[in-house]
Amino acid sequence: MLRLSKHKANKDKNMLLVNVEGWDAGPWIERFAALMPGRRVVEPTDSFNPHEVLYAATWKHKPGSLGAYKNLKVIFSLGAGVDHVFLDKNLPNVPVVRIVDEDLRDRMSEWVVLHVLLHHRQQRMYDWQQYEKMWEDDRFQPAAKDVRVGVMGLGVLGKDAALKLAAIGFDVAGWSRSAKEIDGIESFEGDELDEFLGRTDILVSLLPLTDETRGMLNRALFEKLAKDGRLGGPILINAGRGGSQVEADIVACLEDGTLKAATLDVFAVEPLPQDSPLWHHPRVTITPHNSAISDPGALAAYIARQVEAFEAGKPLQNVVDVKRGY
Ligand code: NDP
Ligand code: OXD
Repeated sequence: MLRLSKHKANKDKNMLLVNVEGWDAGPWIERFAALMPGRRVVEPTDSFNPHEVLYAATWKHKPGSLGAYKNLKVIFSLGAGVDHVFLDKNLPNVPVVRIVDEDLRDRMSEWVVLHVLLHHRQQRMYDWQQYEKMWEDDRFQPAAKDVRVGVMGLGVLGKDAALKLAAIGFDVAGWSRSAKEIDGIESFEGDELDEFLGRTDILVSLLPLTDETRGMLNRALFEKLAKDGRLGGPILINAGRGGSQVEADIVACLEDGTLKAATLDVFAVEPLPQDSPLWHHPRVTITPHNSAISDPGALAAYIARQVEAFEAGKPLQNVVDVKRGY
C-alpha cells in the first residue's frame, strides 16, 4: 500500500496528466478540473513542467510516453481493464489503479442481460421475420430456468452480470481463477473449466486480457460447451477483450455448428477491420467496444476521490497486481 507520505499537497504543483489515445481528452480534463479546484490538469501537448506531474490518467497512452514524468506517483487506468497500460514495456514503476465503479458495472450488466436475452428470445430471427412480413408464432421459447449461462470471470463485472441474469431466472454459473461463494450462482475455479463449459449454453466472457487468457476463446474451448442445450447450440458473448478470442475459430465454429451464434463487443484489432467476415455474418451481433463506456461524468469523481485520499495519507484502492496483469 503506497501512501503519499510527508508529501506536502501543493495542488498547483501536483499535476494530473490526462493521456488518452482514441478518446477525446476534453471532457475528462473539464470534469477533473471541476472536481479538483486549484489543481492543474494537463494533456501531453500542453506546456508545463513534466516534473510537476504526479498523476497520470490514461487510456491507451503511447508506450514510453510516461517516462518523462520523473515524479509520477500513480497511473490511473480510465477503464476497468489495464491491458492497455501494460502494453507499455517502459512503464514507470508506480502503482496502477483501475476503475471500479457502479456506473461502469451497471452499464456492462445492462449489455450482458440485453444480449443474453436477445439470443434466448431469438430476437434476431424475429427482426428478420418482421422484415419479411412473416407471422410465425409457433417457435419454441424455453424458459430462462432451462437455459444455462456461464460467466467467465466472476470479478466486479462478472459477478454483477451473473446476479442480474440469475434474478431473471437463468441457471447461472461462473468460472474464475479462485473459487467464489455467491448466492444462487454455481462457482467453478481454475482447473474446473471443462466441467463449467460442459454445463454452459450461453458463454459470457468478462475476462481481462492477460498472458493466461490470450486466445483462450478458441475452437478447443467451444467444442467443450454443452451440446444438449435448449437453444439448439452454444452461444458466445464476449465483452472482456478481443485478444482472448480467436476470430477465425469463431467464424469456422459458426459455420460447422460448434457455435450457434455470437455477440462480440471486443476484437483482436479495433476498430474491427472492414474485411473481417464477422461484420456480415448472419449469426453474429457486433457492438463497437461500447458495452460499458467510461463516462467522464461518472468516473472522474472516482479518480479525484482517490487522489484526495492519497494526499491525505490513505492507501490507494483497486491497485492492479502487476504479476497477474489484472
Ligand atoms: P476483475 O479484475 O474484477 O475480474 C476479473 C475476473 O477474471 C476475476 O474473477 C478473475 O478471477 C478472473 N480471471 C482473471 N484471469 C483468470 C484466469 N486466468 N483464469 C480464470 N479466471 C481469471 O475485472 P472486472 O470484472 O472489473 O473487468 C473484467 C474485464 O472486463 C476488464 O479487464 C476488461 O478487459 C473488460 N471490460 C470491458 C469493457 C467493455 O466496454 N467491453 C468495459 C469494462 C471492462 P479471480 O476473481 O479469481 O481473481
Ligand atoms: C474498460 C473498457 O476496460 O472500456 O473499461 O474496455
